[in-house]
Amino acid sequence: MSDDLYRDIILDHYRNPRNRGTLDPADYSYEDVNPLCGDEIRIDVRVKDDKIDESAFSGRGCAISQASASILMEMTDGKSLDDVKAITKEDLLEELMVPISPARLKCALLSLKVLKAGIYGVGHEDED
Ligand code: FES
Repeated sequence: MSDDLYRDIILDHYRNPRNRGTLDPADYSYEDVNPLCGDEIRIDVRVKDDKIDESAFSGRGCAISQASASILMEMTDGKSLDDVKAITKEDLLEELMVPISPARLKCALLSLKVLKAGIYGVGHEDED
């Protein structure tokens, strides 16, 4: 694929985000900020039989942070909580399919940090 197509994937998710919104009630809800810019992402999850039954994200941020959250919702739909816990930063970065500069890594990984914190329980700190 060309670089343009890779960029199109980010833009497509940014313009047409999957699972954007909130769930109320939810089994897990968590939100956090990118400390570098103050942008926020919240993720709500409903769980059934130890699998993600529904998830939604909300908040604001740059195209990379929003596209990455949208892609993460697709990646985790129907997955077991153990499978979600096993998702690595590299897994998500691979799905973004564009090289992410070190300065934008927190943008790209904010959604994963929030989702995992929600599932592990408030207080979980992702390793930086
Ligand atoms: Fe704020 Fe990317 S600039 S999340």
